[in-house]
Amino acid sequence: MSKIRAAITGVGGHVPEYRLTNQELETLVETSDEWIITRTGIKERRILKGEGMGTSHMAEKAVKELLQKTNTDPLEVDFLLCCTTTPDFIFPATGNLICDMVGLKNAFSYDMNAACSGFIFGLATACQYIETGKYKKVIVVGADKMSSIINYKDRATCIIFGDGAAAVMLEPNTEGLGIIDSICRTDGSGAQYLGQKAGGSRRPPTIESVTNGEHFAYQEGATVFKHAVANMAQVAADIMERNQLTSSDVKWLAPHQANKRIIDATAQRMGVDDGKVLMNIERYGNTTNGTIPLLLWDFEKQFKKGDNMVMAAFGGGFTWGSIYLKWAYDTH
Ligand code: UT7
Repeated sequence: MSKIRAAITGVGGHVPEYRLTNQELETLVETSDEWIITRTGIKERRILKGEGMGTSHMAEKAVKELLQKTNTDPLEVDFLLCCTTTPDFIFPATGNLICDMVGLKNAFSYDMNAACSGFIFGLATACQYIETGKYKKVIVVGADKMSSIINYKDRATCIIFGDGAAAVMLEPNTEGLGIIDSICRTDGSGAQYLGQKAGGSRRPPTIESVTNGEHFAYQEGATVFKHAVANMAQVAADIMERNQLTSSDVKWLAPHQANKRIIDATAQRMGVDDGKVLMNIERYGNTTNGTIPLLLWDFEKQFKKGDNMVMAAFGGGFTWGSIYLKWAYDTH
């Protein structure tokens, strides 16, 4: 029998209604629409409003749409992996909450935190469950309410991030389609340049930590930018080389949406032209774990069965990685 691979068989997504535009940011911090567009490519991001609303509420909508689109009985799902950096709570896992919200009564779940590389690490992990032959329906969610950890007085971060969620279904495929290869990397020495300084076990919350703004995301943008350009481009080139892919073999590049200039550098290194590069950063900004599945959600109708796709990401941690897959269905 041919090898069992994990294929994406459906996509669901959700972005909140509220649009935080560059014009509104101009009223909050010293910035300009022109600076944000030329330095990042972002025009607006979505923000989840409402008391008591967390990451799980966006993921719930994305997973419900996924179940409906794939005509899946929630009781048949074996496992849900929630990739998030902004869980509803430190514990229990947000994945557990999502399962309860959507009626996945026979599934187990847990969260994964690999920051902006989360969805790639999540797919690389979840596909192993399918490849064993033991699990038949696995959901991978990428979701973040980044607005919950953003300081809207810090122009180094508030212009970039947004909220959103999307989810994919993974099922076994023996026709040679699905996830073919993955590369995942971490370098914890980069932790100091992008992260949240307090709120965890090293620095539990105190009045002082709150007053100092240490629960907000902190980023040394230019340093992160340099590492992102180098590593995201390299890992995408590595996965192409390892799988003997030329630029003309690649139909789609699905890059993490952090900064249009990082995306352009990755595409250039891979030699793929603009028409193959999936991009929605102008509308959603950087939704962290949400970026790559939201690309799949937005562009699904253009993908054809058998298309070669390369995903690549870089994020806090530092983390970075790439996935090579063959798209497994046509959407009508
Ligand atoms: O997804 C997870 C990983 N994260 C990333 O990949 C993000 C990587 N970093 C970036 O995308 C970019 O570094 C930023 C968009 C965050 C910043 O862009 P940059 O081109 O690296 O700007 P910079 O931090 O080097 O600052 C350049 C100048 C500075 O002014 P001076 O010192 O040259 O006078 C900043 O003070 O731009 C200024 N600046 C701003 N001006 C207007 C920084 N942020 C802003 C702003 N509006 N929002």
